[in-house]
Amino acid sequence: MDITYGQYLKVQELLSLQQPVGTPVEHDETLFIIIHQVYELWFKQQLHEGQHLRELLAQGRLEEAASTLARMLKILKTMVAQIDVLETMTPVSFLAFRNFLTNASGFQSWQFRAFEFFLGKRNLKVMERYPAASAERLALEEHAKLPTLWSGFIQCLAKMGENVPTSALQREATAATISDPELQELLLRVYHKPGPLRGMCEMLVDFDEGIQEWRYRHVKMVERTIGTKTGTGGSSGVDYLRATLFQPSFPDLWEIRSQL
Ligand code: HEM
Repeated sequence: MDITYGQYLKVQELLSLQQPVGTPVEHDETLFIIIHQVYELWFKQQLHEGQHLRELLAQGRLEEAASTLARMLKILKTMVAQIDVLETMTPVSFLAFRNFLTNASGFQSWQFRAFEFFLGKRNLKVMERYPAASAERLALEEHAKLPTLWSGFIQCLAKMGENVPTSALQREATAATISDPELQELLLRVYHKPGPLRGMCEMLVDFDEGIQEWRYRHVKMVERTIGTKTGTGGSSGVDYLRATLFQPSFPDLWEIRSQL
């Protein structure tokens, strides 16, 4: 039986999901909801691609991994660019419905936390913010059991015949990504050899820089919209967000740069 465009994409269901809570309804609240929903969809796609990328790397399938990471980079650029759209909303317009959000904040996005887990930021305490046995908590618990992207890259180095130090090889694949001076020695050698591994290192740096760029753009958007007011999620707001800036996901790839 044929299906239509609307049936396949569940367009009617999708279009019923934008429900402003402010009264009277503020014009810009629709944009605010749609942007956040689009971000959640992109987080879903990035998690989907990310697990694939990690597996490809772990299997040493470098060319396919590079194509997947290239796609993730394009999506990330789109995610950063979308901030421009939300910045067309004025502080006054946002304040017209901000109170109706009560405690709701991107701070509570479980997919964002899952993405952080994937990138090696494994602050498992964030799970405690979700009620035990809630759908978000269960999903995050599953993501906490998955290996990090960096662990996949380390396996890739070994598959490509590089002499990976035992410290890196023996590290739990689900452990937080931290810098490793012994691994840096190897990465320095990789950087001095032209080839696909060096290319992959540079793509990972692009991705890391892109994530940091998103955080920077988000904090500036927050600052221009609410100044130094506290966040709806309960944090100090801009001060809290500033403290999350310039923290690399793959510290080894940054720390070696002054020695190249
Ligand atoms: C006018 C627009 C926005 C404002 C004023 C805003 C404000 C804030 C504030 C103040 C925080 C700190 C936590 C708290 O709420 O206390 C925060 C965190 C966060 N926001 Fe936004 N935000 C905006 C748009 C967005 C958008 C479009 C996204 C996309 C999903 C987003 C995702 C996040 C995430 C993931 C965090 C957690 C960051 C972390 O803990 O490292 N925000 N936001």
